[in-house]
Amino acid sequence: MTAEISKLAIVPFVSVENMMRLVLKVGVEAFLTGLAQAIEEDFLRWESFDKTPRVASHSADGVIELMPTSDGTLYGFKYVNGHPKNMREGRQTVTAFGVLADVGNGYPMLLSEMTILTALRTAATSAVAARYLARKNARTMAIIGNGAQSEFQALAFKALLGIDKVRLYDLDPAATQKCMGNLRGTGIELISCTSAQEAVEGADIITTVTADKQYATILTDNMVGPGVHINAVGGDCPGKTELHKDILMRSDIFVEYPPQTRIEGEIQQLPQDHPVVELWEVMAGKVEGRKNEQQITLFDSVGFATEDFSALRFVREKLQTTGLYEDLDLLADPDEPRDLYGMLRRFEQGMKE
Ligand SMILES: NC(=O)c1ccc[n+]([C@@H]2O[C@H](COP(=O)([O-])OP(=O)(O)OC[C@H]3O[C@@H](n4cnc5c(N)ncnc54)[C@H](O)[C@@H]3O)[C@@H](O)[C@H]2O)c1
Repeated sequence: MTAEISKLAIVPFVSVENMMRLVLKVGVEAFLTGLAQAIEEDFLRWESFDKTPRVASHSADGVIELMPTSDGTLYGFKYVNGHPKNMREGRQTVTAFGVLADVGNGYPMLLSEMTILTALRTAATSAVAARYLARKNARTMAIIGNGAQSEFQALAFKALLGIDKVRLYDLDPAATQKCMGNLRGTGIELISCTSAQEAVEGADIITTVTADKQYATILTDNMVGPGVHINAVGGDCPGKTELHKDILMRSDIFVEYPPQTRIEGEIQQLPQDHPVVELWEVMAGKVEGRKNEQQITLFDSVGFATEDFSALRFVREKLQTTGLYEDLDLLADPDEPRDLYGMLRRFEQGMKE
């Protein structure tokens, strides 16, 4: 027997398949552009969000994190892991799912896959930051680390900044080949490089998006020339960084939410009082972003809960016109709210009949 499902029990669920259908229906670059707009809108109302560093559970192999936030009307959270060794075992380094809920009654309003959505929102956030921080004439980007996130980064920078040349490097040449194959036909000129040093030559923007659970040195000081914007994505956990400390000392550093970035970002290598600028302040025009053509700007990205909130909000809006979701029987809804046990008994009775 199946129980009759009430409307209040149902939560729209976006599966991986429906997320892929949605992204393809909208178009990858249009999706990234729309997502970037949603992310920027929410950064511009930064003060209306309830903010906390994400709750991280570390182990020898990786981390599992919960990322909650609320704007007083909607509440969102993401479950996300980071396990660099996973890729070698045929699993994703990063997987995620998330929930959007109604603050008024606490009922979830959306449950969504967020593995693909995280790659999209991370790339969109990087591109939004770069629009404020990179030189206006930036056209060439180096991407070091050509794994799951890399194509999304390339396409977001193409869509939002007009990047038309990407120089790729990965420790594993197969990853670079995969990335080149996936980006072929997008209009981006692709150059495969044999070292990180070669990849950064002539790059206006350097994106580091490697995965390693240790202090790595993907970039050394001599590799970063004046005027470069660094989009440092892969250093996002205690003990997991990508840049040599000397680069940080020469850069103006921009972060999402300092209490979280001081724990997780490149700046964990610096004293707690090292000056950083909050990205939302640049967006709101409170603080200058790039001041001149010589300045080295660094977006020390770790990924913040509001970006996932924006992404879920954006997806939810799209569901209304596309219908690309399933009804999930997630919330118990007895006829009489206090009679939860009675619901179980009546179901049992129905099973016997
Ligand atoms: N900041 C954020 O918001 C955010 C969001 C998502 C993922 N991330 C991080 O981005 C990183 C990449 O994620 P992914 O899903 O693409 O991982 P992935 O495992 O799919 O790819 C990582 C790639 O980095 C390469 N690599 C490792 N060490 C390298 C080195 N020293 N030089 C060059 N290449 C190297 C690997 O060979 C692999 O191809 C992870 O560290 C992840 O935690 C950050």
